[in-house]
Amino acid sequence: MPHTFIIFGASGDLTQRKLIPSLYQLFRKKRLPKETRIVGFSRTEFTHDAWRAELATSTAKHLGKDFDAGVWDSFSQNIYYHPGDIGHADDFSKLARLLKDIEKSDKSTRVYYLATAPRFYEAVVQHLGCSGLADETHGPRRVIIEKPFGTDLASSLHLNNAVRAVFSERQVYRIDHYLGKETVQNLLVLRFANTIFEPIWNRNYIDHVQITVAEEVDVGRRGGYYDTAGVVRDIIQNHMLQLVTITAMEAPVRYEADAVRGEKVKVLQAIRPLTSQSVCTDTLRGQYDGYLKTEGVAPDSKTATFAAVKLWIDNWRWQGVPFYLRSGKAMSCRTTQIVVQFREPPHMLFPDGPKSAAESNRLVIQVQPAEGIQLHFETKVPDAGMKLRQTDLDFRYQREFRATMPEAYERLLLDALEGDASLFARADEVEAAWAICDPILDEWARSDKPPLLTYEPACWGPPESTEWMNAQGRQWFDICPVLH
Ligand SMILES: NC(=O)c1ccc[n+]([C@@H]2O[C@H](COP(=O)([O-])OP(=O)(O)OC[C@H]3O[C@@H](n4cnc5c(N)ncnc54)[C@H](OP(=O)(O)O)[C@@H]3O)[C@@H](O)[C@H]2O)c1
Repeated sequence: MPHTFIIFGASGDLTQRKLIPSLYQLFRKKRLPKETRIVGFSRTEFTHDAWRAELATSTAKHLGKDFDAGVWDSFSQNIYYHPGDIGHADDFSKLARLLKDIEKSDKSTRVYYLATAPRFYEAVVQHLGCSGLADETHGPRRVIIEKPFGTDLASSLHLNNAVRAVFSERQVYRIDHYLGKETVQNLLVLRFANTIFEPIWNRNYIDHVQITVAEEVDVGRRGGYYDTAGVVRDIIQNHMLQLVTITAMEAPVRYEADAVRGEKVKVLQAIRPLTSQSVCTDTLRGQYDGYLKTEGVAPDSKTATFAAVKLWIDNWRWQGVPFYLRSGKAMSCRTTQIVVQFREPPHMLFPDGPKSAAESNRLVIQVQPAEGIQLHFETKVPDAGMKLRQTDLDFRYQREFRATMPEAYERLLLDALEGDASLFARADEVEAAWAICDPILDEWARSDKPPLLTYEPACWGPPESTEWMNAQGRQWFDICPVLH
């Protein structure tokens, strides 16, 4: 069956930087389903040819040597554009006519991609419903919705209800591009395609888990957006809680959308709700020095650009094992990593051996960059008595597979075209994630506890974050990935 991929927000940044380059790459690798057409919708007045030319330039810029003008020519023959305004119902009727003209055959799978500002999501979905574009008589109809999906639990419930009024849950693909990353999917493989990790992946052997999403860049030109969002909405509610679920979930009975998502939701439901008291003791917030001078940021803004959060998962596997989440802008380096810190040996024979969990075995999953996995363990230094030193088994994707990592969107767009929702968030998953974050956001807005700390750019956040961790007998794994 032919496929049509319709992008709302066609003239925007996401379309140029991610969507079209990913669709082009899928075409170049001969993975895009045969007869896949792309239709753009936004207000800017392009002709089909003008939009193709614009995309040729932006795609060449973003893909560099992967761009081939000959391949682009064949790919771009199936690109169309329809100028339209999301506020005008009539423009959706016109779009429906264009789609009918393009899809010569009777049946076609359609995927609608909402690459617009979130305030338009509800309107687009309503118009798709009213103009018959969600009707499945002539083939499957799916909708991909970008993050952020709501700004708190109430707004995500509202949006889910609005979407549900038009599409059934199986038609809805809520995208979190972290799930399209090879390293994140490989975490499932590491855990569930090997026998040696699963028996020790629990409270009996693991002291704690720490997940860091650090960005070296500051807010830059995104001040207007960022100041209303902050680090919890921007990173923790979506990307970081997704990483928590994949690290902590039970093995699903099958590798299939609902089985995988069902297990992820159970993890979110088992996370102990934060109270006013625990927000005060188990979260830290910070703002980098200089943030207030950013264009679009209120001069007295209290928005956090850094957060550290301790979560407890109340189930048999994880009881008593804290999960530390830390994210910030203007940090020492760009790194996303999951560190599984194992307990210290029950009885240490060697005086020079690990004296705390921080010196014990550690599994480091480098999600990006320098994608890889390292297992840290003690070894005897040769010819030095019983002197011990920590070393590691080091797996790196680049060295092992000699292939560049594909863009996460490639995998996700292909999955959506093929109807596989395993790597997309379900309604209850998004709502459960907001239910975890709401108490933090509420308490931070309501009181000055914990205080908003200041930190110097190019550090690992406020120094208090290090002290907070050390006071719990633990250490952040503050190592930047080695990029070669
Ligand atoms: N950019 C990224 O890397 C990125 C990453 C993750 C998530 N996202 C999410 O993706 C979404 C899009 O982000 P973006 O950065 O691409 O935004 P953007 O560059 O501001 O693009 C917004 C798009 O919406 C269109 N638009 C605005 N008003 C419209 C209207 N009334 N009718 C029809 N089209 C309208 C604009 O085109 P016209 O002005 O021509 O109408 C433009 O194509 C956001 O929800 C964002 O949070 C973006």
